[in-house]
This record gives sequence, C-alpha cells and structure tokens, in this order.
Amino acid sequence: MGGREHVPVLLEEAIAALAVRPDGTYVDATFGRGGHARAILARLGPAGRLYAFDRDPDAAASARAIGDPRFVFRSCWFSQIAQEIQALGVDRIDGILLDLGISSPQIDDPARGFSFRADGPLDMRMDPARGESAAAFLARVTARELTEVIRDYGEERFAQSIAGAIVAARSVAPIVGTRQLAAIVAKAVGARARGDRGQDPATRTFQALRIFVNRELAELALILPRVVPMLATRGRLAVISFHSLEDRIVKRFLASASQPFGGDPRLARLPIRADALPLPPLALVGRAIRPSEREVGANPRARSATLRVAERTAHPVPAALGAVPGG
Ligand SMILES: C[S@@+](CC[C@H](N)C(=O)[O-])C[C@H]1O[C@@H](n2cnc3c(N)ncnc32)[C@H](O)[C@@H]1O
Repeated sequence: MGGREHVPVLLEEAIAALAVRPDGTYVDATFGRGGHARAILARLGPAGRLYAFDRDPDAAASARAIGDPRFVFRSCWFSQIAQEIQALGVDRIDGILLDLGISSPQIDDPARGFSFRADGPLDMRMDPARGESAAAFLARVTARELTEVIRDYGEERFAQSIAGAIVAARSVAPIVGTRQLAAIVAKAVGARARGDRGQDPATRTFQALRIFVNRELAELALILPRVVPMLATRGRLAVISFHSLEDRIVKRFLASASQPFGGDPRLARLPIRADALPLPPLALVGRAIRPSEREVGANPRARSATLRVAERTAHPVPAALGAVPGG
C-alpha cells in the first residue's frame, strides 16, 4: 500500500453539487480512500444511504474500515455499477459522484506500476485481477497500434518515435519495469521534449498506457447513460475529470442529454410540433467548476480538475441516450 493519503479534490464543491438530502440515497462510484464518501455520510441522517463502488482492491480494504450501517461498498467496474445498484434493491438514487482517474495511494505505491518516479513492475491495472497488465500489452502490441494508443490517449506528439523505440527495445529484453520504460521513452524523445512542457518525457506515455489498460474512457462513456435513468427527479450527477480526454466525454454527454433532440440539429429541423418532441432528461447546473488557487497550491493533483454537474429533469430518458457523439 502507498504511504501517502489521498487528498480529495474539489471536496466542498462536489458535496455542494450533490445537494445532499439527509434522507437521500447516494452513490459514490469512485470510493478511492473514501474522502468524498465520508463527507457525504457526514451529511446524511439515519435514513440516508450511501452505496460506494471501486474496482481497486485497496479501495475495498479501505471501505471495510468505514463501519457505518448506512454505507454499503461493492467492488465493481463503472460498466457494471447500474446493474449492481439494482441488484442491491435500489431503484432510485438522489445523486451520484464520479471522481475520475487514479488516487494518490495508487500512484505512490511502486508495486502498482503507475508511476515512473519509483521503480516497480509495469502493471498499471486498477483491478489487478482482470485484464492485461501494461507489460503484457507492450509485449504483444504492434508498433502501429502502440503509436495510436500513445498518440490518442497521451496526446503525445512523439508517439511514433516512442512506439518504435519500445518495439526495438523489447526485441532485446522484455519491458517489465516502470523505470525501464521511462528510460526508453526519455531516450526516444531525447532533447526534443525537454524544457518545452516542464514535465517528465514519460508522463504522456504513462498516461496513455494507464488509460488503455484500464479502458478508462470506454468505462466512462458506458456509466454516464446507464446511471441517468436511475436518478430521481432533481437527482444530481457530479463528475470530476482530470484531463481533457475525460472532460470531453463528460461535457459532450451532458450537452447532448440536456438539449432537446440530444442537441442534434438535423432532428431539430423535422416537421414535428415542438411540444410533441422529447424533452431532455438532464439540466445543466451552473458552469464547469475549477479548483481555487488555494486548493491547487495545497494539492497539485487538483491542478487539472474540472467538476461538471447536472440535475435530472422529470422528462423520460430517450432510448438513444448514450451515443456519445465523436466521444
Ligand atoms: C480519484 S480516485 C477517487 C478518490 C476518492 N473520491 C477519495 O476521496 O478518496 C478514483 C478511484 O476510482 C476508481 N476507478 C476509476 N475508474 C474506475 C472504473 N472504471 N470502475 C471502477 N472504479 C474505477 C479508481 O480505482 C480510484 O480508486
């Protein structure tokens, strides 16, 4: 387990966004170390309930310490959460929070393989019981697919050079360690990357592999439409994202779910009376919220965070909700 604690990001803002009612039923889809969950529980009365989820086994261990009769934790992936909530006998929720990405203890534990700062096995799985580790992926991927992953998920302009260097290096020795990979990337990028971005040359490649190995964007695109039908009227959806790829999916989903016709201008031109058309299932609540300078000063991880909030309307959820345009 990692040494450092996880400092919850946009804590007050996220709790305010959920507008917690003491007798309400809430979902924390990203329990982590329970920073947000504890704050929600503190606002619930005896009849309130909090259902929390996470796919990381260390999060499950941390949830066992909560010991509150109003709190239930289940290990599961985003894509299964809606089913899991139903299996728990819950048919309406008053709010759901998603605090995306990884937690500080995950990054800080070298054994999890998320960070190039300390040496560890190149794993990067949030749920080490499922899927392929980053090392296994690097052992079998083609240079072309790897270029795409590093470019698309890392927004890395040297993706092709880095992928070529990885494929060349693995023919000499398997790539199994975080420092080993970081050194290959640094050598491939050379002086080109230094100085212009103020970050380690391996940052974007590690981000890309982590997103790929954990299917982070696909999981996010799956959970959003699945939880909207579970929200009670005026129930809140609050999502904290940490990079532009995540935020783009959240922003587009909320835009399409909060506009008539899913925001599709072609449908708006149909010869149908406006009052016969489906009205949107969500309404946006305020603008995107960013952390204060004070929070970023105290917790640099908050630097890139964006909180977006929406509220369930009384209108039915259209069957097509969830097609994330260009997501
Ligand atoms: C930023 S941390 C949450 C921190 C938490 N709010 C706190 O205050 O301690 C994100 C958590 O979400 C979990 N997670 C991310 N994507 C997930 C997914 N698709 N399914 C399940 N859990 C996921 C990670 O394992 C991690 O523990």
